[in-house]
This record gives sequence, structure tokens and C-alpha cells, in this order.
Amino acid sequence: MAQITAKDDGLPCSDVGAWTEDKHTLVALYDRLFSTGMKKKWPTRVYIDLYAGPGFVRVRGTNRMIVGSPLLALGVPDPFDKYVFCESDPALLSALEKRVSRLFPKAHARFVLGDCNEKIEEVCANIPSASKDHGVLTFCFVDPYDISIKFSTVRRLSSYYMDFLFLLAVHMDANRNLEHYLNPNNSKIEEFLGLPDWRERWRIAEGQGTSFPRYLAEDYSGQMEKLGYLPAPWDKMKQVRSDERNLPLYRLALFSRHRVAYEYWDDVLRYSSNQRTLFEG
Ligand SMILES: C[S@@+](CC[C@H](N)C(=O)[O-])C[C@H]1O[C@@H](n2cnc3c(N)ncnc32)[C@H](O)[C@@H]1O
Repeated sequence: MAQITAKDDGLPCSDVGAWTEDKHTLVALYDRLFSTGMKKKWPTRVYIDLYAGPGFVRVRGTNRMIVGSPLLALGVPDPFDKYVFCESDPALLSALEKRVSRLFPKAHARFVLGDCNEKIEEVCANIPSASKDHGVLTFCFVDPYDISIKFSTVRRLSSYYMDFLFLLAVHMDANRNLEHYLNPNNSKIEEFLGLPDWRERWRIAEGQGTSFPRYLAEDYSGQMEKLGYLPAPWDKMKQVRSDERNLPLYRLALFSRHRVAYEYWDDVLRYSSNQRTLFEG
């Protein structure tokens, strides 16, 4: 396994909250369980990061640099056969490209510049073709700052054999902007959920005492079920809180069509509650 240490290399990096380290711990563990577990079952395994970032990030208010999700996925013991990184900021994507070629010169990596919702066909064009005798399994990490991922994008990707790990910004973005999103001219939640009648559905859920973050997460899971995914219950969506103000920020939600992925996710959840290494002993 390639152990990477993030350090200032003069290239752009983003500033992040300290809670990002929790997210990275969970994502790195899932990357590792998934890539190794699926190695014998699938001839080709692909990793997609739709909101890739620059590869190294700095914890806000400190000089501490940490490794971002693309390089964590590249550093697993059984690397994926192909990596596709999408990022809308040209300077950050270029920094990622340079870091990948320096740290993982042999990796089969492709870089897509732009809004992942608009560039989805370019992302899909980079997924190797599957055949009856040669299966291709993709793991897609979706890590936006807000609820900008459109359900039409997810539906398009779901036409492949693909598992998803979503950061659902249902506390951070959605809850804070509820009044704004309720405005009939605002289409953000409709695009996020792919549900034109979400306002009626929310009114019913609210009447039953459901919080807005939970309503969104549960309708999201329902929409994924319509695409053939197993449902993700609210309590299996890992909550990540801000360490500064101890407020919930988002939920990490895994979706797969196969039970085994949920077994890996359960391992990740157990690890995060026990705070012990799964690999000790
Ligand atoms: C939370 S950061 C991603 C961090 C990264 N996944 C990690 O863990 O190191 C979100 C990134 O998505 C980029 N971004 C924002 N909107 C985007 C979009 N519509 N499509 C692709 N990238 C986007 C931002 O520039 C930012 O670098």
C-alpha cells in the first residue's frame, strides 16, 4: 500500500474543517474494503470521484495538510484498475493531476474538468466497456459541499454496475436553506431528489413530525430503490458533525444493489463507533 503523507508542495489546496478527517477515515476504510473484497469477483474495478478536489487539503486555521479522497483511493492495497476524477475548478483539477502523476505515476487515471452534472457523458465515456465474460464494477464517491448533485446524473450512472457513497448535505445546506428551497421558483430539491412533487411529500412528512434532513434522506433512499438499489436506513447513514460547534453537517450514505457492500459499510460504521483499527492483530 502506498502510504502518502500530505505536505505543502506549492500547488493549490483547499481549506477544510477538521471534521473532514473523520470523513476521510471512513471513506478510506470503505475504499480499502471494497477494492480488496471485489478484486477476485470483478475483472475490472473503477473508482469515480465526482467532486474530486485537489488531492491535498489543509485543515482550516492550522498548517496541517491531509490527503484528499482521490489519493486515498489511489493508495489502497489493491488499487482500482481505473480512476476517473471530475472537478469543476481548473486550478484544483490541475493540482490533482500533478499530484497523481508524481505520487502514482503508473495509475490509469483520467481527469474531467467541469460540473459533473454537465460533464456526466464524459465521465461515462471513461468507464471501460463490460461484456458477458468481463464484468466492470464501479465505486462512485459523491462529495459535494451542498446538494448540487442532480438525481438525473445519478440515474445515468446507475445504468452501470455501480455502488455509490454519497455525502448528503441534508443538514449543512438543505436544512439551512429550507425557506429558500420552498419557494416554488426554486428547483434545487426537485433536481436533487428527482421528485417534482417533493413539496407535497415534505408537507405530509412534516405533519408526521419528521425533520427536514430526515425527510430528504429517506426520500433519497426511496429514489435509489426505484433504481434497483437496496434501501439505506437513516441510522445507517453516518452523521458527521462539526467539531467547532458540534452541529450535524451531513450524512454519509452508501447505496449498492448487493448485500455484501452493506456488510463492508457495517464494518466501517462499527469501526467509527469503536474507534479501533479493523486490521489490528
Ligand atoms: C468537498 S470538496 C471535495 C473534496 C474531496 N472529495 C476530498 O475528500 O478530498 C468538493 C469539491 O467539488 C468541487 N465542485 C463543486 N461543484 C462541483 C461540480 N458541480 N462538479 C464537480 N466538482 C465540483 C469543488 O471545487 C471542490 O473541490
